[in-house]
Amino acid sequence: MAAATSIELAAEGAKNPKVFEFLKRPAGNLLINGKWVAAKSGKTFEVENPANEQVLAVVAEGDKEDVDEAVKAARKAFEEGPWPRLSPHARTRILLKLADLIQHNADELAELVSLEGGKPIAEAQGEVAASAAQFIYYAGWVSKIYGETNPSAPEMFNYTLREPVGVCGQITPWNGPAAVVAMKWAPALACGNTVVLKPAEQTPLTALRMGELALEAGIPEGVVNIITGFGETAGAAIASHPDIDKVAFTGSTAVGKEIVKASAGNLKRVSLELGGKSPNIIFADADMEAAVRGSAAGIFANQGEVCCAASRMFVQEKIYERFADGLVDFASKIRLGNPFSASTTMGPLVSKEQHERVLGYLKAGKQEGAQARIGGDRGPQERGYFVQPTVFTEVHNSMKIAREEIFGPVAAVIRFKDENDAVLQGNDTTYGLAAAVWTRDISRAHAVARRLRAGTVWINCFMAMDPISPFGGYKQAGFGREMGKEALELYTQVKSVFVKL
Ligand code: NAI
Ligand code: MG
Repeated sequence: MAAATSIELAAEGAKNPKVFEFLKRPAGNLLINGKWVAAKSGKTFEVENPANEQVLAVVAEGDKEDVDEAVKAARKAFEEGPWPRLSPHARTRILLKLADLIQHNADELAELVSLEGGKPIAEAQGEVAASAAQFIYYAGWVSKIYGETNPSAPEMFNYTLREPVGVCGQITPWNGPAAVVAMKWAPALACGNTVVLKPAEQTPLTALRMGELALEAGIPEGVVNIITGFGETAGAAIASHPDIDKVAFTGSTAVGKEIVKASAGNLKRVSLELGGKSPNIIFADADMEAAVRGSAAGIFANQGEVCCAASRMFVQEKIYERFADGLVDFASKIRLGNPFSASTTMGPLVSKEQHERVLGYLKAGKQEGAQARIGGDRGPQERGYFVQPTVFTEVHNSMKIAREEIFGPVAAVIRFKDENDAVLQGNDTTYGLAAAVWTRDISRAHAVARRLRAGTVWINCFMAMDPISPFGGYKQAGFGREMGKEALELYTQVKSVFVKL
């Protein structure tokens, strides 16, 4: 038997031959004006499999010069190309074709998501299906983006046109290598914009494969451009670029603030989907089994690397111990391992950096007096960025592990007395992305939902999401809403036309 090449070792567990073909394709990874090109500097960087710390692929390291080229292409495609001027029906058909291609290649895309991001393959499959759904949903909007006629003076006819914003810079994180790209592209393209995407440096491969599919679907040259590279260089060049009209960012609050500052140069439109420290409130009358299961999935899915994770669990005093026991029991059944193994229910964190960050929080939690009822340490694996699913009890809302986003499988379980206490503690955070309430009292559920300062509230469920429903933050979780018809506002602007009769 021939010895396995390093790619076979690195992509341990992957099965789809197309994945290996993709990983072996020669470098030249920037997508600019419909062509795959190397970075002008010739620089490259390595993409690692976080499950075994092996190099999966080497991709182009784009920076400012490459962003400039991509913006030129996107500008030309916007000003002169067919995309913004296509009949809505034609644009719909192309977006549906892209959705079809994503579904057709779902197996390959899911393997790439797991390989570079670390999530279990079943979760990656769910993510890819959700990505196709974004394109299907926004394909339907293309022919339904209306202006209005307004009652002006008798000798005037006034109407509005809803037009695309122009060239959109999009900067995405690593925790949803397919889904966040789809959430960015689908509404932008539906509205007739052109885009320059910079995917996270940890997970550029899925985005590159999606770029290939976009071309295959018939999206014209220059409409979708991809610059792989780092945040401080390529990302910053997008945020400050004088010829980008709008920037959409998902990532940390700290970088979100940098983006706002950088955007001031040309006053580009900005939308931000940042971090969270979401309160998940469990009342004593809740369906305990459902609450434990839903809350556990809320903090342990995707290794807890989720912006709207159920990271602060507020539990009514009377049921505090029972709920904590239930959560610990759930965590004890989680199997850490290679994302492709059938028994694995939790993969590694995405990177060494993230691993160290989360381990730092585990230490901080113990130092502050929280009790790690289960977990609290790295996984037993010799290689890979594994962290044990962790349940901290005896947490106070003032502790670091309750204030800062951990972005790992770490639950902070906090006591509350009554409804008012739950709401006040729940809202006592700088974030405001999501929140949840578990109770059988329907009036209380709705009343609490109104009082929670968060962009999404779940009642008796957690992390329900749908392209039809807007998603985004209150407070420092960002501004602007992605998904739903609200995202059309991000990617269009309104022109008022007066006609003298
Ligand atoms: P990050 O915010 O640094 O990275 C997200 C994206 O922004 C990446 O594409 C990165 O290259 C880019 N970026 C970084 N610096 C930039 C800059 N100065 N200008 C423009 N783009 C820039 O997030 P990171 O460092 O990967 O993770 C740190 C923490 O951020 C996580 O622990 C988590 O708390 C939070 N985070 C939140 C996410 C969310 O979904 N809201 C996603 C990823 C991280
Ligand atoms: Mg960073």
